[in-house]
Amino acid sequence: MSRAGRAGARRGRFVVLEGLDGAGTTTQARLLAEALRADGRTVHVTAEPSGGPVGALVRQVLTRRIAARDGAAFDPAALALLFAADRLDHLSVEIAPKLAGGVDVVSDRFTLSSLAYQGLAVGDVAWVEALNARAAAPDVTIFLRVRPEVALRRREAASLDREIFEVSTFQRRVAASYERALERLREAGEQVVVLDGERPVPAVAEAILEEVRRQRPRAAGRRRSR
Ligand code: TYD
Repeated sequence: MSRAGRAGARRGRFVVLEGLDGAGTTTQARLLAEALRADGRTVHVTAEPSGGPVGALVRQVLTRRIAARDGAAFDPAALALLFAADRLDHLSVEIAPKLAGGVDVVSDRFTLSSLAYQGLAVGDVAWVEALNARAAAPDVTIFLRVRPEVALRRREAASLDREIFEVSTFQRRVAASYERALERLREAGEQVVVLDGERPVPAVAEAILEEVRRQRPRAAGRRRSR
């Protein structure tokens, strides 16, 4: 019988990893999933922008394959709406069913990214927070704190294609925006943990695992408190 079918089966844990581009969230999401599987858990790894239709649209905007007319930048408020729409779609189609089936879900980015990036780009974090009010709170959001210059160096070492956000001065402002956004999530009663993301990869992975093992899944479908 599947986990979901078993009487009293527990909802999975919903863990979000967050940080600047280059903070290591993608690597750590994979390592966390491996470690939880070794604990006997079933784990689904996902990311935002999601692999769904709105996520595909968001990626096209980020890589400038979609722009406003005459190549002008896409409107930041419209992009904030797309990120929020992608999140609700991702949640209802992919995340919530997995959690309900007892599967742990690890998401590389979630609401905190919108508060940090779109809060800054739009200049109205309260509005961005309101757009995301229907997105269920993760059991824990783990922020990997790295200095913007370290994050940028890592990005350059990996020589990944630059997206529209990856400009170093902007990253410094994003870092500050993340710190403010963390406070907002805490004030909203969400479980937020900050870890030193500059330590070696295995040490960060161990710290994340310790935090996650400490978390107990909360009631399914809990909404953000504001
Ligand atoms: P990501 O896919 O993590 O970047 P990559 O895989 O190229 O390292 O995220 C793409 C970009 O989208 C990243 O710069 C952060 C940004 N982003 C937002 O601005 N708001 C959001 O809500 C999310 C989820 C991501």
